[in-house]
Amino acid sequence: MTFSRLLTLLSVVVAASAASMMLHERRTATPSGFIRVGAAPATEMITLRVALTSNNVAGLEEQLRSIVTPGSSNFRQWLSMDDVKTYAQPSAETVSVFNAFASANGLTPTVISPNGDWVSITLAVSKANTLFAAEFEHFMHPSLKRPITRTLSVSLPSELVGHVDVLHPTTSFVSPDVRLVPAIPHLDRRSEPAASCNSSDPFSVVTPTCLQDLYGIPTTPATETSNTLLVTGYVEQWAQKADLAQFLTLSRPDIPPSTTFTLLTTHNGTNPQGVDDPLKTIEANLDIQYTAGIATNVPLIFLSVGGLDFPTALLDTTMFLDGIANPPSVMTTSYEDPESSFGASMATKICNGYMALGARGISGGVHGNRDTLDVCDSPFDPAFPSTCPFVTSVGSTQGFAPEKAANFTGGGFSNVFPTPYYQTASVAGFLETIPGDFAGTFNKSGRGYPDVSTQGLNFELVNLGEVSNLGGGTSASSPTFASIIALINDRLVAAQKPVLGFLNPFLYSKASSAFTDVTIGHNSGFVCPASSEGFDAAVGWDPLTGFGTPRFPDLLAAAFD
Ligand SMILES: *[C@@H]1O[C@H](CO)[C@@H](O)[C@H](O)[C@H]1NC(C)=O
Ligand SMILES: *[C@@H]1O[C@H](CO)[C@@H](O)[C@H](O)[C@H]1NC(C)=O
Ligand SMILES: *[C@@H]1O[C@H](CO)[C@@H](O)[C@H](O)[C@H]1NC(C)=O
Ligand SMILES: *[C@@H]1O[C@H](CO)[C@@H](O)[C@H](O)[C@H]1NC(C)=O
Repeated sequence: MTFSRLLTLLSVVVAASAASMMLHERRTATPSGFIRVGAAPATEMITLRVALTSNNVAGLEEQLRSIVTPGSSNFRQWLSMDDVKTYAQPSAETVSVFNAFASANGLTPTVISPNGDWVSITLAVSKANTLFAAEFEHFMHPSLKRPITRTLSVSLPSELVGHVDVLHPTTSFVSPDVRLVPAIPHLDRRSEPAASCNSSDPFSVVTPTCLQDLYGIPTTPATETSNTLLVTGYVEQWAQKADLAQFLTLSRPDIPPSTTFTLLTTHNGTNPQGVDDPLKTIEANLDIQYTAGIATNVPLIFLSVGGLDFPTALLDTTMFLDGIANPPSVMTTSYEDPESSFGASMATKICNGYMALGARGISGGVHGNRDTLDVCDSPFDPAFPSTCPFVTSVGSTQGFAPEKAANFTGGGFSNVFPTPYYQTASVAGFLETIPGDFAGTFNKSGRGYPDVSTQGLNFELVNLGEVSNLGGGTSASSPTFASIIALINDRLVAAQKPVLGFLNPFLYSKASSAFTDVTIGHNSGFVCPASSEGFDAAVGWDPLTGFGTPRFPDLLAAAFD
């Protein structure tokens, strides 16, 4: 009697609460590398960032497509900060729905982005668990100093569905260990100025001079002070001015060793000098030394983003630039993590942020490494932000005659972003080259990356006063390619033409013949056995080197065409 009545009642209660909550994002297991430490205390206060749905992402995407299409009436007429805001801001309805939800639940949202599409709320874990049908727990990872608070599942009350795109941090599990120079010991030390690329050198050391010779990059100084190149610095990587001066004296004796960068910071970023831990400087030093060393006289900005949560840092970067009227023309990012760690909603929101920057005329370049992402038996977990179709992903080559794909170069296909329109023919051409049984191991319908590549192994740099050669990393390739684009933009601005902005449609059309195709190589990984699964380089675009490596004069001609 009462037993069955009770059951009926219970099922009614469950059905009622299920109807009002809609599952937003869920993980079926704790991501690899993380361990559960226990439930987060009910009274712990957490701050959640809430992405309010932009009113017209589709409109922005359509507008951008028109801006990058040669012959369109608005070709390369990049949007202003306010133009972008009209698309990115939430509708009045979305704002009022969220504010009503917040006030009904005693929450005080704070707007944290220039476009009004992000707010933050601070609340107790017990309340967050109830409001979002979550179970916040503490998780540890070997690269973390203290546990992080996350949940494996998050839901939205039905009235917020369609008005909220992301709650962060909830189901994103990104370790702060996104530094991307593989930990290979110094190969040798040198005190002589480097010659051009020397195939007989057993280490095939790469220097600015070598890259200039190899790709035809001019050494003449840029002239346009309005055209700036921005290097992002995350997870407490700090660029050292003394190392840059020493590097320029060694590698670019033809330019003033006083050549330096401007520091900008956001989210309490810092850039202390005189650091004594080489692991805190190596990535930032590499990025700054190769941009200063190649993009001769292009004003250089180091943007240091504080905080150790990588998805938050990527968002903070896009928000920072959303609030700047005259943004840089190129931004380079040498950090990444598996796409799956971000989760689809966060990856999509960050990628839409890059779309908005592309529409403002900022070319965004990121790199993709392989070994830092995967264990050897799961080679096809793609890297983000490389998989975002609105950034240019740069892979790595090694050797000079001919160049071949470096074994550590990342590459593959997104599980979140579909193949974008500009690369469908290139991806289809590559898919024809692979054996049929291989095709099931990755997502053929995804955005393929990288788009292009440059040298990425044995870059000589100065780190805390020591001259050394890096083992390798596509994190060397992204600053190299970004510098080339910054130099081309300098020539465009000098000729009173618009900068290149969102690059990929240009790379996959007019510019594709400005690259030397790299057709040899297999990305089985630097440390994984050479027999590990990976892609093979092929004639034409491939997911190791994209179209191959740039020839500056041809790329410049295509940009002016
Ligand atoms: C190239 O490397 C070889 C082997 O280290 C060296 O003997 C030679 O001097 C180098 N050539 C130049 C032009 O630096
Ligand atoms: C920056 O630091 C100040 C002072 O420590 C702190 O109050 C503020 O919350 C920090 N801001 C961010 C975005 O972390
Ligand atoms: C493959 O990628 C598409 C996006 O292009 C995505 O919708 C789909 O879920 C992905 N499949 C898997 C198995 O991840
Ligand atoms: C990957 O390439 C590097 C550089 O040529 C080499 O030292 C390393 O042994 C290679 N790794 C494997 C597993 O073959």
